[in-house]
Amino acid sequence: MSHRVLLLGAPGAGKGTQSTKLAEEYGIEHVTTGDALRARKDMETEYGTPREYMEAGDLVPDPVVNEIVEAALADADGFVLDGYPRNLDQAEYLSEITDLDAVIFLDVDEEVLVDRLTGRRVCEDCGANYHVEFAPPEEPGVCDECGGDLHQRDDDTEETARERLSVYRENTEPVIEHFRETGDLVEIDGEAAPDEVFDRIRNVLDEE
Ligand code: AP5
Repeated sequence: MSHRVLLLGAPGAGKGTQSTKLAEEYGIEHVTTGDALRARKDMETEYGTPREYMEAGDLVPDPVVNEIVEAALADADGFVLDGYPRNLDQAEYLSEITDLDAVIFLDVDEEVLVDRLTGRRVCEDCGANYHVEFAPPEEPGVCDECGGDLHQRDDDTEETARERLSVYRENTEPVIEHFRETGDLVEIDGEAAPDEVFDRIRNVLDEE
């Protein structure tokens, strides 16, 4: 069974949805740079605050993100890594600080990604993730898990979502290509229903 899993995919591909389930299934840490940065949005760094980059759909500078990931992986006895690496320099840094057992890529068409991002709603209290059409809560605007209010992420407007996809194409697709060339990449159709995507990932990990 794999314990050090890298989950790659475009914004909205389902990395957060699947990582949460994998962490629970295998008893490993969910290390997500997106959530870590949202929790530190107003942290002052020599490059400014993460908020400035995130709200524009840009990447937060590598030194800030590398430090977060290194600390999180040092504490983790098994992990699913979500949102990192996002460029080749981050991929190089990751290879220096850990080994990976599995690299999985969730493949989803761009127009599907935009629909998923603009329809996503997140619980303000517990972070649970919904979609107004594909995974709606029982009561609109209210979290099934904890009763908290659901809100739209600042970067999930159509304009910022498209900018994030363009940053992804330029910076992160070369990372996908890198792992394809090393022969480590396992590609999974991320357009199936969430439970089906999860079963496919689990099949890959259980074969390791
Ligand atoms: P981050 O939070 O990592 O965002 P992202 O990569 O853009 O990914 P998302 O969280 O938007 O999508 P996801 O793939 O997790 O999809 P989800 O499961 O939620 O990063 C945000 C920002 O932080 C970046 O823009 C950047 O500024 C900064 N940052 C983060 N990491 C960085 C790094 N390494 N370096 C520099 N900067 C960094 O699903 C999306 C929606 O679709 C949900 O509503 C869900 O319910 C629905 N859905 C999921 N799966 C399915 C399915 N199979 N069928 C139908 N609907 C589905």
